[in-house]
Amino acid sequence: MTLNVLFSARPEKWEAYQTVLNSACQTAGLAVNLQQEMDPALVDYIVFAPNGPISDFGQFPRLKATLGLWAGVESIVNNPTLKTPLTRMVDSGLSEGMAEWVTGHVLRHHLGMDAQICNQNRTWQPIVPPLARNRSVGMLGLGQLGTACARALAGLNFPVMAWSRRPRTLDGIETHHGAAGLAQVLAQAEILVLLLPLTSATENILNVENLNLMPKGAVVINPGRGQLIDDDALLGALNCGQISHATLDVFRQEPLPADHPYWAHPNVTVTPHVASETRPETASQVIAENIRRCEAGEEMKFLVDRAAGY
Ligand SMILES: NC(=O)c1ccc[n+]([C@@H]2O[C@H](COP(=O)([O-])OP(=O)(O)OC[C@H]3O[C@@H](n4cnc5c(N)ncnc54)[C@H](OP(=O)(O)O)[C@@H]3O)[C@@H](O)[C@H]2O)c1
Repeated sequence: MTLNVLFSARPEKWEAYQTVLNSACQTAGLAVNLQQEMDPALVDYIVFAPNGPISDFGQFPRLKATLGLWAGVESIVNNPTLKTPLTRMVDSGLSEGMAEWVTGHVLRHHLGMDAQICNQNRTWQPIVPPLARNRSVGMLGLGQLGTACARALAGLNFPVMAWSRRPRTLDGIETHHGAAGLAQVLAQAEILVLLLPLTSATENILNVENLNLMPKGAVVINPGRGQLIDDDALLGALNCGQISHATLDVFRQEPLPADHPYWAHPNVTVTPHVASETRPETASQVIAENIRRCEAGEEMKFLVDRAAGY
């Protein structure tokens, strides 16, 4: 039986996915009719990006599952028209890319690279950084991406303290959960990485109170979601030196508006939501495997917990 799979994402993604997704489905033993447009009455599965055209899932009477192309699901998780299972993207390429981006930005601040790279005016001012083993990194979120980043940083000898909703254990990483755990992580984090999903429980988690728990002069790196940070609180903390630098990849409004104070702030680095991208080759294998599982009556991988919001 041929399965009708609707690909709902930006047009440029179709070009990137059409061949590799068809081929991954074939390898998984699936016969699929993969299209960008289709009679809604015939759709079995939707491959879904939140910035694509679909928001009303009520128009697909045969829909068996929606397979997200993004790791973050905040814009779909509360959609009342979606009554069938939703999976999110967990992709080895996405995790690898995030570990590289986070490690690069942690090392920039740890080594004080800016002082050397930007200061080429013949001043000879050696500043020796501590070893990584003496620089504590806090990781808020110890999921697929937080785990990959924590492992990469611990591999360089950074002491990593991580925080999650439920208790977790990870070799070589000090793990915490709950409100008391958050305070413990923040109190030690000279460099703090945010890799939490956006939910009602995590919105504005980096507020005045929590910023003040961090060591003076700490660095914030946010590749998670813009709404994790209370922007006014962060700007205040940057202006008084409580936070020495913020490297921000994600924002409440994207693209970041031209008049946003982050652009002009000397201690803020803005990157345009590039920390990590879903890679079509590896992501297609995940989607094909989940369709195969659903057809075989097996549990799909990476199901979103709609109650928890991620
Ligand atoms: N900038 C980019 O390019 C980019 C790319 C991809 C993803 N992202 C962002 O990265 C986020 C994380 O992705 P992921 O795949 O690592 O997600 P994930 O596997 O679902 O992990 C989320 C982590 O956050 C923890 N968490 C959730 N709610 C919490 C709460 N209320 N208190 C404490 N911890 C909480 C979870 O705790 P448990 O372990 O207890 O569940 C888990 O450890 C995505 O949601 C997305 O927003 C950004």
